[in-house]
Amino acid sequence: AKISLQAANSKPISDLLVGVFFEDLNYAADGGLYAELIQNRDFEYDPSDKEGHDKNWTSTHSWSLKGDNTTLAIETAAPVHPNNPHYAVLDTKVPGAALANTGFDGIAVKKGERYTFSLFTKQLQGKAGKLQVRLVSDKLGVLAQTTVNTSAKGWKTATAVLTPSAQAADARLEVQPLSAGRVALDMFSLFPQKTFKGRKNGLRADLAQTIADLHPRFVRFPGGCVAHGDGLGNIYHWKNTIGPLEARKPQRNLWGYHQTAGLGYFEYFQFCEDVGAIPVPVVAAGVPCQNSGVGGGGQQGGIPMSEMGAYVQDILDLVEYANGSVHTKWGKKRAEAGHPEPFNLKYIGVGNEDLITDVFEERFTMIYKALQDKHPEITVIGTVGPFSEGTDYVEGWQIASKLNIPIVDEHYYQPPGWFIHNQDYYDRYDRSKSKVYLGEYAAHLPGRPNNLETALAEALYLTSVERNGDIVSMASYAPLLAKEGHTQWNPDLIYFNNTEVKPTVGYEVQKLFGQNAGTDYLPSTVQLSNNQEAVRKRIAVSVVRDVKSKDLIVKMVNLLPVPVATSLDLAGFNMAGAKAVKTVLQGNPTDKNLKPSATTLTLADSTNTELPAYSCTVLRIKNK
Ligand code: AHR
Repeated sequence: AKISLQAANSKPISDLLVGVFFEDLNYAADGGLYAELIQNRDFEYDPSDKEGHDKNWTSTHSWSLKGDNTTLAIETAAPVHPNNPHYAVLDTKVPGAALANTGFDGIAVKKGERYTFSLFTKQLQGKAGKLQVRLVSDKLGVLAQTTVNTSAKGWKTATAVLTPSAQAADARLEVQPLSAGRVALDMFSLFPQKTFKGRKNGLRADLAQTIADLHPRFVRFPGGCVAHGDGLGNIYHWKNTIGPLEARKPQRNLWGYHQTAGLGYFEYFQFCEDVGAIPVPVVAAGVPCQNSGVGGGGQQGGIPMSEMGAYVQDILDLVEYANGSVHTKWGKKRAEAGHPEPFNLKYIGVGNEDLITDVFEERFTMIYKALQDKHPEITVIGTVGPFSEGTDYVEGWQIASKLNIPIVDEHYYQPPGWFIHNQDYYDRYDRSKSKVYLGEYAAHLPGRPNNLETALAEALYLTSVERNGDIVSMASYAPLLAKEGHTQWNPDLIYFNNTEVKPTVGYEVQKLFGQNAGTDYLPSTVQLSNNQEAVRKRIAVSVVRDVKSKDLIVKMVNLLPVPVATSLDLAGFNMAGAKAVKTVLQGNPTDKNLKPSATTLTLADSTNTELPAYSCTVLRIKNK
C-alpha cells in the first residue's frame, strides 16, 4: 500500500478524543477501584439489593461470629447516622469470640505495608473496654494485631494501624471484645495507606495507575445505567455521595449488588484531577433506565413535575460544588472535603440512553434550560437514546437540533463486522448539527471475548473517529472495569482480582490511541494493489499531529490475514533523518494476552513499513 499525506488539508480535531467511562458495574467500585477492604462495612446489605431478594444478602453478609459465649445482633435504634441505620451489637458474656469479615473474596494484604483500621463504637452495657483487632490468614495465622478502645458515651471513631508480617490474599479481619458487655459497632474500615496518589479514602493504586496509563482526556462517571437507576428510587443523587462516609447514603446497585458511595462525587472529581482528565459527570435526565420505570412502562414514571424544581436545583448545586467559591454553600463542602480549589467542571452529561418520550423531553428540556440560564459556561451533553440499527437515533437527534444541544451521547455495541463496514458512519454526519460524544462502544463477538479481532475492529473504527474529530468530540470504550468472578457484562477493558490487574488487548488499543492522540488531522490516501472492498475496509490509516510535541503520528491498522507492505510518502515534510518510535500490536485474531512492542528507527523521505497480519502499528515521528 502507498500512503500519501495531504498536509495542506489538515484540520483541527478535538483534543479530548480518547477518554474513559467508569461505571460501578462488575464490582468496579466497591471491591474494585475503591480501595476499602471490608465488605458490607456498614451492615447495610439488604436482600432487596439482589434480584429475587437473596436471603443470604443481609446485614451480616461477609460477617461471622467466631467463638462462644457471645451473640451478634443487628440493631437500628440510635444509629451512627440515619443514612446508615444498621449496626452490629456484640453481647459478650465471657471474652473469646470475635466478629470476622472476609472482605471481597478475602482480604489481600502486603507484607510491611500500613493499613488504617477504623470503626465507630458505642458501649451499650458494661464498662468501656478494649477490642483486639487482628488480621488473620487461614494459611499463615495472625498477620497483625492491635487494640482500640470502645466509646463509653455515644458513637465515636477508633483508629489503629495494622502492618502485616507477611503477604496474604486470604486474610480476614477479626475484632474481639476483651471484656464482658454489650458494644455497638459500625462503619468498619481497613484501608491501605498506599492508595493512588496517597489519597485518603482513595483508590487502589495498581488499578488507578492502569487507567491513568491510558492518558484519558476525560472520565465519564458514575454510569451508564447506574447514573439513572432502574426506577425513581434508584437514581444516583450526587448529594448522597459526598461528606463523611457515615453520612453518605448507600443504595442498591442495579447490577445486583450494593453500593456504599464510598467512591462518591468528591473522589471521582479528585481522580479526574489526579489522572489529568476532565470530569464528565452524568446525571439522570429526570427519568430512570429505559428498561425499567415505575408502572412497568419504560420511562412513564419520570420524576413528578412537582419535584423537578428541586431536582434541577440539585444539578445546579453540582456546578457550585465543583466550581463555586469556598464562600458558597456547596463550594464550602468541597473545601471541607479538602479541595478548596475548583475542580474546573466544564461538561455535564444529562441522561443516559433514555427512551426519547414526552416524559423524557419535558424533563431534559427543563434541566438543559436551567443549566444554560444559570451556568452558560457548562457544556451540556445530551443523549439521543438507545441505538437501533437503521433508525440513526431519529427522535433523539430531532430534540438535539430543536434545542441546539452542543453535544449528544451515542452508544453502540456491535459485531466487529459492523465497525469494519461503518467506518464512514461519521463521515456522513451533518457538520452544522450537534457534536457527538461516543460514550459507549465495543465490538461484540459471540461469547463476548475481548480479543485481537475485537480490538482491531475498534482500532479501525478509532481511525475513523480521529478523521471525524471535528465533530466527534469524545469517545470512550465501555465498560472499563470488571472483577473476575463478579462480572455482569463482557467484554470489558480491564479485568482484575484482588491482587492482579489484567488489561485486555482492547486496552492496548485504547492506550495506543490515548497516548498518541493529536490535535490536528492530516488527511491521507491509501493506494492498495488489491482494491476490493473487503480488502480496503480492513486497512485503515489515520495521521495526526500533536500541537504540543509537534510530533507526527501515523496509525495503521491491518485486519487482513496477510502482511501488507506499505510505503509512507513523507516528501515535503522535512522528515529525513527524524527519529520515530514504531509500536506494533500483532497476533492471531483470537489472542487475548498481547502487548505491543516498540522499536526506534530513523526515517527517510519515504518510509517502508510492513504491517503484519492482524496488527495495529503506530509510528510516532519526533519533531526534529
Ligand atoms: O456499559 C454497560 C451498559 O450499557 C451501560 O450501563 C448502559 O448505558 C448501556 O446500556
